[in-house]
Amino acid sequence: MTSLIELTAVSKTFGSGADAVHAFGPVDLAIEDGEFISFLGPSGCGKSTLMLMIAGLLEVSEGDIRLAGQTVAGPRTDIGIMFQDNTLVPWRTVQGNIELQLEMRGMPVSKHGARIDMLLDSVHLKDFAERHPYELSGGMQQRAAFCQAMVHDPKTMLLDEPLGKLDAMTRESIRKDLQALWMQQRPTVVFVTHSIEEAVQLSSRVAVITPRPGRIEEVIPIDLPFPRDLDVKNSSEFARYVRDIQEIFRGYGVI
Ligand SMILES: Nc1ncnc2c1ncn2[C@@H]1O[C@H](COP(=O)(O)OP(=O)(O)OP(=O)(O)O)[C@@H](O)[C@H]1O
Ligand SMILES: [Mg+2]
Repeated sequence: MTSLIELTAVSKTFGSGADAVHAFGPVDLAIEDGEFISFLGPSGCGKSTLMLMIAGLLEVSEGDIRLAGQTVAGPRTDIGIMFQDNTLVPWRTVQGNIELQLEMRGMPVSKHGARIDMLLDSVHLKDFAERHPYELSGGMQQRAAFCQAMVHDPKTMLLDEPLGKLDAMTRESIRKDLQALWMQQRPTVVFVTHSIEEAVQLSSRVAVITPRPGRIEEVIPIDLPFPRDLDVKNSSEFARYVRDIQEIFRGYGVI
């Protein structure tokens, strides 16, 4: 059986000659259908570069990326993408912003009413469907952006530090909702974060990335039960995963 996402000797170099920056790779990795995998690494190690390459928004310099058996050769509209800065347009309501994702893909809005309601409900935004982005807090805007990224029922989601700019309490709350949504819908999630705790809490596997040029140091299966509530987070097993990953980064002088 082929994996959902296959990275084969993927690397990226920006520029050429004396100005060349080897940003990422080479990296080999197979990502399975329905898993939640995190790329965890220091700033500048090429995590966003990798996400853009998987999405087909940036060409690989070497190697090959396959999504469901097909080489990625251009932008993919069948996946769900979310970055640190959300892409809500100010002149549309929350509902209108979510519908925009369907309109852009030529999908009928009328058939997706129930799905939009379900998504808004799952991130506690049902009462804010008719509000505009400027009427929402930063955390609420990211919750709306999650609905945008999921409305077309993508099998694959690329989430590049979606919680990076939020306060600790809001992050914790959205992580919980994200985990519940993932458990219920089971998309394949590729998640980028700097936070060791966040990676261990959310992921079925954590790919630990070295400083630039980013390579995979180790892929660690996180063998803890889902949902990972506060009891799991306070367990000695959780602490051991965090400590083991800290040791890897300490070895690189990153922390
Ligand atoms: N368009 C570009 N042109 C030239 N260099 C680039 C470009 N995009 C990224 N880089 C370089 O590639 C390296 C990796 O960048 P990238 O944004 O992928 O890192 P990152 O791991 O996502 O970092 P952060 O955690 O800070 O978001 C950096 O050294 C960056 O300067
Ligand atoms: Mg980045």
